[in-house]
Amino acid sequence: MPPALDDGCVLITGASSGIGEALARQLAGRARRLVLVARREERLRALAEELRRERSGLEVEVRRCDLSDRGARERLLDALEGGPGIDVLINNAGFGDQSLFERARWDKLERMVALNVTALTHLCHRLVPPMVAQGRGGVLNLSSGFGLSWLPGLAVYIGTKHYVTGFTESLRAELATTGVVVTQVCPGPVITEFHDAAENTTGQRPPRFVAISAQQCAAEAIAGFERDRAIVVPGFYIRNLLRLHAVTPRWLWRRIATALARPMRAAGSA
Ligand SMILES: NC(=O)c1ccc[n+]([C@@H]2O[C@H](COP(=O)([O-])OP(=O)(O)OC[C@H]3O[C@@H](n4cnc5c(N)ncnc54)[C@H](OP(=O)(O)O)[C@@H]3O)[C@@H](O)[C@H]2O)c1
Repeated sequence: MPPALDDGCVLITGASSGIGEALARQLAGRARRLVLVARREERLRALAEELRRERSGLEVEVRRCDLSDRGARERLLDALEGGPGIDVLINNAGFGDQSLFERARWDKLERMVALNVTALTHLCHRLVPPMVAQGRGGVLNLSSGFGLSWLPGLAVYIGTKHYVTGFTESLRAELATTGVVVTQVCPGPVITEFHDAAENTTGQRPPRFVAISAQQCAAEAIAGFERDRAIVVPGFYIRNLLRLHAVTPRWLWRRIATALARPMRAAGSA
């Protein structure tokens, strides 16, 4: 059954930049109501005003929330319960940290797990039951190509995305007969503010040709969601690299990952 994007109410976390903002712009022409969530309220308000101006009849609600904070999440979810109901939940907010594990700051890692894992799960736990009761709805979770693979230099981020991938696959199986569509998006590098937030200290960067725009990522995510795809990997190069990775023996990938870790350690101790 197609997800309720047209004329529905869509909640997007992390709509103040990057992929979330692109999703909001692309869904504005279709949804009846958007609920935009992030911490930078000014950005959300500016986006909401622009979308309302462009799409007459579109309702846009802005909710400032630090989703890594349990109390703030509870208040958001309580407030949403009194509203018109969420038809589609897009769990997009997330960030990474690109450094060797023992050199990363604990407070940042803790916030990352709280956002990428706990908040995503908490929002599903509160917003999925009404969808099941109605027999329609959708969940679109932003995982990563790193939900399907691994490399050194992003251990905790990769751990959070493996969680998102496993959780989303299992949730999809559980909801298969309920009318609720569950899809995950597993992008490779996307040109957004993600890379600033990740504070890369590894000295390594992905090759430029694999990077795609937030607009392309959002468009492929929406198209895959509408086709009820389990996993969407946007971008030609990453899609095929991940196909190659899937048939690469684990022992061989471990050797590649170990070889990539050596210069990271050397870079930090120089
Ligand atoms: N860019 C990539 O290369 C890439 C690749 C694979 C997967 N992804 C995934 O795609 C998703 C979106 O990332 P992006 O690339 O669009 O990065 P981005 O431009 O940095 O956007 C991240 C969004 O998350 C929000 N956010 C961060 N911390 C938050 C918090 N504590 N509470 C509420 N919102 C918070 C940010 O808003 P505020 O700062 O205003 O709160 C922002 O809107 C993430 O889950 C990321 O892991 C990205």
